[in-house]
Amino acid sequence: MVRTERIALIVAGALMAGFFAALVYAASGLGIVVPTCVGDVAPFSHGAVIDKGGNHYEVHVVAKMWAFDPPEVHLPPGADVDLYLSSPDVTHGLYVERTAVNLMAVPGVVNAARLRFPTPGTYAMICHEYCGVGHQQMAGRFVIGALPPSAPAPAAAGADAGAAAGAQLFAQKGCVACHTIDGTPGVGPTLKGVLGRREELADGGTVTVDEQFIEHQIRAPNSAVMKGFQPIMPQLPLTDAEVQALVDYVKSL
Ligand code: CUA
Repeated sequence: MVRTERIALIVAGALMAGFFAALVYAASGLGIVVPTCVGDVAPFSHGAVIDKGGNHYEVHVVAKMWAFDPPEVHLPPGADVDLYLSSPDVTHGLYVERTAVNLMAVPGVVNAARLRFPTPGTYAMICHEYCGVGHQQMAGRFVIGALPPSAPAPAAAGADAGAAAGAQLFAQKGCVACHTIDGTPGVGPTLKGVLGRREELADGGTVTVDEQFIEHQIRAPNSAVMKGFQPIMPQLPLTDAEVQALVDYVKSL
């Protein structure tokens, strides 16, 4: 073995040992954990708008079947935005209307873009990758304008407050992708006037929709399937309070 070969081998060996030592140090000394699926870990596991000061915002958008979280992002005009996009389920897309932002939301990956909205207005977020039955209704929006005052909403009483919270959940949890509230047919039955409605079931039975039935359908979707529809409603992880808010909202439609 000539001398230069020996030097090359020693240098390569030293580099590998160095990299390995750096990995061990990062994992044990610095406590850096490399997640196996970034979509499952904070801060990319849920939508967020973070004010970094100086009209600079970090916006985390989670694209999931079939809604964007958050569904609506309010920002002041001229804001510099760092946009981070992730997905916990399947591949989605994100196109922000009238901007150069066109990203893929791939499970396990965080994609990013930097943008600025110079003029006030509404800019739709659109999923441009086919992602299932709710795809064509998967959209959100950026609203650029004076920020709404962040004063706490006046506390309404009982079912009214529940219905208002339920209306928000209805959009956030993606229910809106399949259930319309104006009577037009969707992927799932419309919820307009659903309370007290007599429904035919896919198995030939009938049911009169009451509060208990609505709650049961939210907690255990597909235990009863309406005639003409498919048993495809996902079971959402909801707290009891969230279920009650959704029931109050659906009853109010
Ligand atoms: Cu999400 Cu198409």
